[in-house]
Amino acid sequence: MIRSGRHFLQIPGPTNVPDRVLRAMDHPVIDHRSAEFSKLASEVLENLRPIFQTSGPVIMYPASGTGAWEAAIVNTLSPGDRVLMFETGHFSQLWRQVAEKFGIQVEYVPGSWRQGVAATDVSARLIADERHMFKAVMVVHNETSTGVTSCIPEIRRAMDQARHPALLMVDTISSLGSIDYRHDEWGVDITVAGSQKGLMMPPGLSFNAISEKALSANKSAKLPRSYWDWQDMLAPNRAGFFPYTPATTLLYGLREALAMLQEEGLSNVFLRHNRHAEATRTAVRTWGLEIVCEDPREYSSALTAAFMPEGHNADHLRKVILDAFDMSLGAGLSKLAGKVFRIGHLGSFNDLMLAGTLSGVEMGLQLAGVPHKSGGVTAALQYLTEAKREAAALVG
Ligand SMILES: Cc1ncc(COP(=O)(O)O)c(C=O)c1O
Repeated sequence: MIRSGRHFLQIPGPTNVPDRVLRAMDHPVIDHRSAEFSKLASEVLENLRPIFQTSGPVIMYPASGTGAWEAAIVNTLSPGDRVLMFETGHFSQLWRQVAEKFGIQVEYVPGSWRQGVAATDVSARLIADERHMFKAVMVVHNETSTGVTSCIPEIRRAMDQARHPALLMVDTISSLGSIDYRHDEWGVDITVAGSQKGLMMPPGLSFNAISEKALSANKSAKLPRSYWDWQDMLAPNRAGFFPYTPATTLLYGLREALAMLQEEGLSNVFLRHNRHAEATRTAVRTWGLEIVCEDPREYSSALTAAFMPEGHNADHLRKVILDAFDMSLGAGLSKLAGKVFRIGHLGSFNDLMLAGTLSGVEMGLQLAGVPHKSGGVTAALQYLTEAKREAAALVG
């Protein structure tokens, strides 16, 4: 089928890569042992810190997010260690599997996939762990399979109140650069992130931001590691180099993406994501569909997951929308397969792109014969217009 115009990539990552970033990557490959490379890498490594809101080191791997999950584990834990994890959805399940493959004993607190991590649960389990057997609490900040965001400061407070020394590891793969996140202020020990979502980059890079405490745990951690070893990275990184061939071309793109985030200002980036998320929820509610996230305090600003009405399949709806309007929406994952579709509204995105996205969903609902109420797009547009009016009034 011949398509015109741009494909709408509205899955919750990988996200649309801005033209500026694409152009920045249109660059000859350079010698990764040259002074030119060292300058590029040093700049990128430095400019990553404000995005994580940390003054500590950020390690960058040529790998997908799963690699950075593994790196967090193998750099800080030893075979047989116990960790505390929470069933927030598909991605918490996958991270648990990675840990278990390394012989880590995971206490996995069951969850409904409609709520985030309850700080009361963290507190109860850590207080009961008098002998401090848990070596880490591992949390997915924004559960991409459900559109539920857990409150990291509350989890940190629960750990502090329990006076528990476990490391706090947080997966921000679908929140970094989209939803407020503060590695240092929130006392996170290892932040795991990836390039392909809020950072507006193609897939292929992933990150560990690390605290002093994580670095000291690294010294006694016994899990075998080679490619992911922080120490092997930190030493050459100081001079802008890598222990192996880095993803040179992606670094040109990342330098540009970080500049774009800095120009917009992180707080404005978060406000923009909040506004698009609320407009999306307004549309979903008006259509009469149910949002997966149950607690408004945990609504994700990066994506919205919605249930299909009983007897209707989300994958069929997504296919109709792809065929008719050239737009990709996120599928329901594992136990939500066919039941849920996910609208990604993160990364390089604006009001009119959201208007197009929601129009595609509304027309798709009609074409696929999915029972719904009309007016979702109109309600979202009203919300966006009002938000613009308020912002303009504030500027004066
Ligand atoms: C929250 C979360 N964690 C981990 C991953 C896995 O990352 P990757 O697919 O880049 O390996 C994803 C991917 O979408 C994710 O959304």
